[in-house]
Amino acid sequence: MSEKKIRFQPIDSLLNEARNKLSRFKYKILVMSGKGGVGKSFISSMLALGIAMHGRSVSLLDADVYGSSIPIFLGIQNYRHYANEEGEILPVDGPLNIKVVAFNLMLSSPDTPIAWRGPLVGKAIMELAAKVAWGEGDYLVVDMPPGTGDVALTIAQVFPSITGAILVTSPNALTETIVAKAANFAASMGIKLLGVIENMSYFKCPHCGKTTNIMGKWSSEYFSKKYKVDLLGRIPLDPTINEALDKGEPYILYNREAEASKAVLEIVDKVINLVEHTSNQ
Ligand SMILES: Nc1ncnc2c1ncn2[C@@H]1O[C@H](COP(=O)(O)OP(=O)(O)O)[C@@H](O)[C@H]1O
Ligand SMILES: [Mg+2]
Repeated sequence: MSEKKIRFQPIDSLLNEARNKLSRFKYKILVMSGKGGVGKSFISSMLALGIAMHGRSVSLLDADVYGSSIPIFLGIQNYRHYANEEGEILPVDGPLNIKVVAFNLMLSSPDTPIAWRGPLVGKAIMELAAKVAWGEGDYLVVDMPPGTGDVALTIAQVFPSITGAILVTSPNALTETIVAKAANFAASMGIKLLGVIENMSYFKCPHCGKTTNIMGKWSSEYFSKKYKVDLLGRIPLDPTINEALDKGEPYILYNREAEASKAVLEIVDKVINLVEHTSNQ
């Protein structure tokens, strides 16, 4: 019986391969927060769509290994990744031709858990960066997992010339305390902060028009001053976001006139302006 040979690739060559491929993007933006459940994945997927609406080519990496959720926000959870003849992973073609790479699109079923220890997850991200057929593109948007652990560290260390990070917060002190950790993490890794987005800012009742601050009244202006980052915008709480999610409809494409969509699109304009006209990459 012949022994199957396992081919190990040294970390250095994997690192070079990853850096080489990722350097073909003009701009690389990390969407991070430190905190879970604040809307990173919603915002990453909508930013990617909004940027694509401006005619830019966009790739979107779902880097949340344990809680991969980008495919659901884009309505592509039934798609799967395939490999090309060279054995590279092909991104999935999402709406508006966004190229999506997500762990959940590699699993036999979306509810399969990934039970890996930290170092393995960091290695998996590097492997993914090296083995995807990214091609060339204008933007790579990365939906970061919560926390500042293995994945965040790997991305910060491996991804070449990151344009900057966008922080997502919500209007209460608890969230901002944790987002502050992400701000300090980015600064310690030499990653520029492009701005902060206050999500779930307020809720405007569709029946009586009254505004309620469901997630709190803490103003992100204080945070933006303290960390010297622009407040890019405020996105309201809107139940139609989750209705769209349930229907598999990418929110801003189906709800153009909603206040939340308008807020997202205004943020997109600011981000494009920031990275294309004022950043020195
Ligand atoms: N502005 C918003 N209004 C209503 N629901 C929202 C809003 N932003 C995000 N959500 C919902 O909150 C939940 C968590 O959002 P998600 O993007 O998955 O957070 P994270 O990636 O930070 O963990 C999702 O169900 C999402 O649809
Ligand atoms: Mg998420």
